[in-house]
Amino acid sequence: MIKKIRTEVWFLPLLCLFILTTPSQSQEIPPTGAVASAHPLATRAGLNILNSGGNAFDAAVAVASSLAVVEPYSSGIGGGGFFLVFDNKKKSYVFIDARETAPGAAFPDMYLKKDGKFDRLKSLNGPLAAGIPGLPAGLVHLSKKYGKKSLSDCFKEAIDLAENGFEVGPRYLRMAGFRKKSFVGEAKEIFLGGTDLSLGERIVQKDLASTLRSIASDNASSFYNGSLADRLVSGVKQHGGIWDKSDLSSYSVIERVPLYGKYEGVKIISAPLPSSGGIVLLQSLNILRNYELGILQETDRIHVITEAMRRAYRDRADFLGDPDYNDIDVKKMISLRYADQLASDIKMGQATPSDSLKGLTIDKGKDTTHFSVLDKEGNRVAATLSINYPFGASFVVPGTGVLLNNEMDDFSASPLAPNAYGLVGNHANSIQPGKRPLSSMTPTFLESNDRIGIIGTPGGSRIISMVLISSLEFVDGKLPAAWVKKERFHHQYMPDILQFEKDAFSPSLQQELERRGHELKEVDRKYGNMHAILWDKSRGKVYAASDPRGEGLADLQK
Ligand code: DON
Repeated sequence: MIKKIRTEVWFLPLLCLFILTTPSQSQEIPPTGAVASAHPLATRAGLNILNSGGNAFDAAVAVASSLAVVEPYSSGIGGGGFFLVFDNKKKSYVFIDARETAPGAAFPDMYLKKDGKFDRLKSLNGPLAAGIPGLPAGLVHLSKKYGKKSLSDCFKEAIDLAENGFEVGPRYLRMAGFRKKSFVGEAKEIFLGGTDLSLGERIVQKDLASTLRSIASDNASSFYNGSLADRLVSGVKQHGGIWDKSDLSSYSVIERVPLYGKYEGVKIISAPLPSSGGIVLLQSLNILRNYELGILQETDRIHVITEAMRRAYRDRADFLGDPDYNDIDVKKMISLRYADQLASDIKMGQATPSDSLKGLTIDKGKDTTHFSVLDKEGNRVAATLSINYPFGASFVVPGTGVLLNNEMDDFSASPLAPNAYGLVGNHANSIQPGKRPLSSMTPTFLESNDRIGIIGTPGGSRIISMVLISSLEFVDGKLPAAWVKKERFHHQYMPDILQFEKDAFSPSLQQELERRGHELKEVDRKYGNMHAILWDKSRGKVYAASDPRGEGLADLQK
């Protein structure tokens, strides 16, 4: 597990300028710490670590490892993710990339049938859908480089929860119901109790407890290089997968420089490639600079935000992929001049049809978790972790308790084939050995002179538009409860549809948007699960909030 540090040269002047202009926080310490996550047991595990002298990074390890047990449909040891961290002592921002990689035997057409059509089931179910997991290496890295406590201390609650079980809630049952038919073998036994579960039944994961113990005791060396690796590879191969031991032994976490931008005096620190999140977020905000959102009437406001999303997601489809496999001009894509160019053909009275934008020619053709942590020393973590679809590949490697991700579906299986979230992509995101699939996960910090926000959410392709909408709430001076509650809408270029949550658009607003040429679609269920923290320095207060759509818990350190 070799750690590489990547710094893109053009970032450096910007980074220095950014650090110099960041208000000094040396004398400013938050009055308390806070944790906001998708599950009360994980939030408690994080707060317990903070209360026993751990820092935000230790707490993040405790929250992530607990979520890997109690929210198995969202993230886990068989998956990956991103940690955006701020180390207050060093005043440094780092993006820890623990994204899955494609196995060495992967190839561009591996999910296409003989007739060239995309075989979606192959990229969603079973071990062939699984990338090489990054989360174990990511947690070891976070703990060893940034934490104060031992990995075993931080894993303790997760191991107890795996060993002794946890009670299932309504969200668990809904997700398990959604993926019920795809479970096979051990996954069915563990996650459905063999047949069906009801509310309050316990999920016990003894094998996972041993795997977690092993990771805690040898810093994941058995997982990537030893007997656990042997077991993982043979289990995957026996069931149709293509992993090799060298895929695990060559996996490495990458520290990357986050993306920086500014909107209405607020600094935005967000996810760089291989997440598209920061680029799409900053590009959208840069386009919106051309409008005074605060004084626009509601229809105009929704219209221009939609048009900004459409253009930024178009670039995502056309240009973005793993930066280690592509030469991508990120600097240009997040430049103000480029955004002005993109904004120049937005018409206030008329939606721009997506297929009239230059870009891919396309024949017309969900689970993850986010948590936020702040400690009393001012350190922060925004982490979005994933196994992709609910319960990932629905496959547990026999004898290990490791539920595998199906993150390979985030690649573009062919230029015209939308993935499970309807996202299209181009060559930049084609399947290649060792490559990281393009992500939408957008862990983000928002900073004004006296307010520091930590946000992010799951939600597939809609992650970035949710973070955009909530960032605008931050800019409006609202509190986290409002950011996470805000009604959502979304446009991702293709399909050319403006989706909205019930209650986001009144009937008259819908009519007006349709009159401008937007095709509207009300989404049947509310989406997203945002967990956010605000440190308001001028009031000397910390606020935390969990999305009312989920079952999470946000709480302050006592
Ligand atoms: O990395 C990504 O963009 C996706 N694998 C995230 C999937 C997700 O958020 C599903 N949640 N509902």
